[in-house]
Amino acid sequence: MPDRADLSEGAQDQARVFFALWPDERVRGELARVTARLHRLRGGRRTRAETIHLTLLFVGNVPRTILPALQAGAADIRLPVFELVLDQAECWRHNRIAFLTTSQTPATLLDLVTNLESRLDRLGIPFDRRPYVPHVTLLRHADCRPDGPPIQPLRWPVREFVLVESRLEAQGAQYRVLNSYPLMGLSTSLSR
Ligand code: 2AM
Repeated sequence: MPDRADLSEGAQDQARVFFALWPDERVRGELARVTARLHRLRGGRRTRAETIHLTLLFVGNVPRTILPALQAGAADIRLPVFELVLDQAECWRHNRIAFLTTSQTPATLLDLVTNLESRLDRLGIPFDRRPYVPHVTLLRHADCRPDGPPIQPLRWPVREFVLVESRLEAQGAQYRVLNSYPLMGLSTSLSR
């Protein structure tokens, strides 16, 4: 079994990372309000407001030495800004996760995920390859039995995506945004 020094050295060499959409303050506030409402219905453990996000691609543990190549690959992506409308509150019974999702997945969101996947393939970085289901996790250990409440559609203007490092610490996962990547163009429909 490795001793403590080996483990900490290994941990420093590796970073657990994922690509995500990170809400701005307004959207984060709205997501926190929906979380509180869902929590009253379903109980469980709330995602802390400051960590609410939508995962695009979970990469997992990678050697820190490859982070520059990963960041350069992401910086190379050219896609337009888009709007994500979160209009459905759902709950997965198999893992008791309550989340928000959309009835109208924007084509650009899927393009973004596909672009990231192909960048990682090109770099030879293995990742968790799952059919993509856009979702924002709001509660864990939730009671999925009550029917989901109808929710007011939450409009999220997406102007960038980010690379995040997740550190598993005693008080839960701590996230740090390592880099952000702007999407192209400004549309009047996405003005703040
Ligand atoms: P979840 O919210 O549905 O659990 C950081 O862990 C983020 O990556 C979380 O939002 C998590 O989704 C997502 N994720 C996707 N695949 C994962 C995996 N294999 N392990 C941990 N997190 C994963």
